[in-house]
Amino acid sequence: MKLLVTGGAGFIGSNFILYWLSKYPQDKIVNFDKLTYAGNLENLKSVEKNPNYEFVQGDICNHELTNQLTNSVDIIIHFAAESHVDRSIMDPAPFIKTNIEGTYVLLEAALKNKVRFHHVSTDEVFGALELNSKEKFNDTTPYNPHSPYSASKASSDHLVRSYFDTYDLPITISNCSNNFGSYQFPEKLIPLAITNIVEGKKIPVYGDGLYVRDWLYVDDHCRAIDLIIQKGQIGKTYLVGGLTEDISNIEIIKKILKIMDKNENLIEYVKDRPGHDRRYAIDWSTINKELGWKPEHNFDDYLKMTIDWYVKNQDWWKRIKTGEYQKYYEKQYK
Ligand code: NAD
Ligand code: DAU
Repeated sequence: MKLLVTGGAGFIGSNFILYWLSKYPQDKIVNFDKLTYAGNLENLKSVEKNPNYEFVQGDICNHELTNQLTNSVDIIIHFAAESHVDRSIMDPAPFIKTNIEGTYVLLEAALKNKVRFHHVSTDEVFGALELNSKEKFNDTTPYNPHSPYSASKASSDHLVRSYFDTYDLPITISNCSNNFGSYQFPEKLIPLAITNIVEGKKIPVYGDGLYVRDWLYVDDHCRAIDLIIQKGQIGKTYLVGGLTEDISNIEIIKKILKIMDKNENLIEYVKDRPGHDRRYAIDWSTINKELGWKPEHNFDDYLKMTIDWYVKNQDWWKRIKTGEYQKYYEKQYK
């Protein structure tokens, strides 16, 4: 099988490529990525000489390039997106462009070349749940996004589904909760907290810190996508989530501080994120019943592993904080 992976230089995309090439070494992967601030080819150093791996720098909004790359593949796995909520609040424009228009351009290319399309999406499209309720997002939860990021992802989901309903394009969608693990850009809560602690900096906690996310180790997400690609029902959306029992941001930060043996005086409460969703929780029983998927990595052990990874790989994130990582493509590929 030959896969076109969009956004493969980002956090989940690069973990997915590493996962896939180690599990299916005979398959070919084309990694199609614009290398925005979030793209980092250093994540893929271990496979860059693999003859079954190819990197193409480009924008998914470019019709000609997208069409040309789609022409020779069996499936598109679409990760490419602007992914950070805070950035979408400061400047929605690139979110509208990449997440909506870029997905449309890819769908057109998939249709023209008769290529299967898997769309990687988020639980944020469903809005927010009440704190202390037992409610979870499920297959019938209506869309109710609150940030420009989640609204742009919701739009992309609707577009993907419309290409199935209208043109019979073979699509699947996964809506997953918050991922954590290695190679996550240190603007997101967990890597930001770990790297700030190493640097002796404060950890900014938005609002009262009592916000809840449904954390999932990134390998579990990759395995869910794998199962959906192999056995998922065409036209269907699968919800993917974690095992944590309503753990708040502040509890996570305290856990990280404890594991790293640091004092809680590094916690700094700051102004809240506008439109901040209170709680996410996912009912993943459908993918469990249909495809046998469930999370295999528990939060506490894999949080420790993740902390360990960031402590041992300080070069990786320090090059991000200085901007050095953006020179890697020039050095290795040009
Ligand atoms: P990320 O920000 O780490 O990576 C995004 C990648 O997309 C980067 O490599 C970037 O260079 C690339 N990209 C951006 N715009 C592009 C464009 N116009 N053309 C080509 N490439 C472009 O994101 P992530 O956290 O790895 O998320 C990947 C996908 O998974 C996104 O679609 C996101 O919505 C979804 N998702 C993320 C999470 C999470 O917790 N991180 C959870 C559920 C779903
Ligand atoms: O739910 C899936 C989503 O998870 C993905 O679709 C997004 O791409 C991904 O970025 C993530 O979104 P969140 O907004 O939930 O992740 P973030 O790491 O930005 O924030 C997690 C929680 O921590 C959230 O309640 C906001 C809070 N937070 C975040 C940062 C960066 C803080 O309190 N302080 C911070 O400095």
